Amino acid sequence: MGDRPSSFARSRQNALPKQPQQEQLFDTHPEVSLDFEIVRQAAHQRYSRPFLIIDTAIVRGKVRRFRAAMPRVRPHYAVKANPDRRVLKVQVQEGAGFEIASTAELELLLGLGVAPAEIFFSNPVKSRESIAYAAAKGVEWFVVDSADELRRIHETKADAKQYLRIAAPNIGSDWPLSGKFGAGAADAREIVALAAKLGTDLAGVTFHVGSQCRNPENWRVALEKARALFEVMSKAGLKPRLLNIGGGFPVRHVKPIPSVEVIGEVVNECLRAFPEDVQVIAEPGRFLVSDAGYFVCRVLGTATRAGKRWMHWDAGLFGGVIESSEGLKYRIRTERSGPDIPWTVGGPTCDSVDIVMRDEPLPSDLQEGDFVYIKNAGAYTTAYASHFNGFPLPEVRVFESKR
Ligand SMILES: Cc1ncc(COP(=O)(O)O)c(C=O)c1O
Repeated sequence: MGDRPSSFARSRQNALPKQPQQEQLFDTHPEVSLDFEIVRQAAHQRYSRPFLIIDTAIVRGKVRRFRAAMPRVRPHYAVKANPDRRVLKVQVQEGAGFEIASTAELELLLGLGVAPAEIFFSNPVKSRESIAYAAAKGVEWFVVDSADELRRIHETKADAKQYLRIAAPNIGSDWPLSGKFGAGAADAREIVALAAKLGTDLAGVTFHVGSQCRNPENWRVALEKARALFEVMSKAGLKPRLLNIGGGFPVRHVKPIPSVEVIGEVVNECLRAFPEDVQVIAEPGRFLVSDAGYFVCRVLGTATRAGKRWMHWDAGLFGGVIESSEGLKYRIRTERSGPDIPWTVGGPTCDSVDIVMRDEPLPSDLQEGDFVYIKNAGAYTTAYASHFNGFPLPEVRVFESKR
């Protein structure tokens, strides 16, 4: 096992879609989206602050589609993507389990009657208090990616089941996560040896290929690493029996993406290398909620600064529109039809980092009061929003269409 992809994988990854022909091959994701007319009417009927509108019928469809693409993999929804209770309820109704990062997320789920055994605590660094609290509530599985965390869990709940997060390639992911978490090969071997020495039930492997991952080969490489680690664990006397393939499944924005079915083919093929009795789960967040929602905000005002056209929205980085700051390109609709010009878009706060996008082509005649509709924005928008500078949190409007 190594942190660098194998030469086979490297050459496949270098072959990321660049040619138009290959793009077509990759862009197999059928357009699922909330009906724009419903969104437009919702904005015009009533508007007091930015809002996210979600159609839970689309959320349901996405859970079903995920399960059909990977029948052996049970989705455990990543609560962080959108913790709205109505969204969580739909996940429960559709038979998903859950992944949490904090005890507050745990509380939300327990309040909905979710069984603690269905909840995986996948934050690689947890306080002793939160480990003890979750364990007392009945959570069974806890992630680690360091010897320190393994000891912390062992000392807090000696019989906890643990799973080891390994480093995975994040090549071609619009929101990479690999710079932070995940044990490299040498560290993983040390953690396994420590688990064997302490008698800890280190019983699984997990990884995250990066959020909005547009490269199915990341899953192949990560699954090959997981398979190799299962062997290392067995040889050390551990009983590996959980494979958690994390999140990262992409949704349609501007760039071409592989469909979940294309990713599923890679995953399903790799899963054949794992014994039948291995429990396989995933932690999709974005995939299950993004395209169920539109985020709606308004133009507060415009300005010309050093020859550049600026507009300020009533929601920026601190109000939920944060992912564009790291390069995620949203599809944006307005009700203006002027020719596109490059706009720099700021949020409503006085903080200089509050710049949503630069040189974004948008209609030249946009002006104060106009609505801005951000498509497929059901994930990682309202969940990120804060009251910074005294601005209100966005509202979340939820309905279920007949599909
Ligand atoms: C541990 C873990 N699991 C799952 C997810 C969900 O990822 P995504 O929304 O890309 O599916 C995240 C996102 O940061 C994560 O940190």
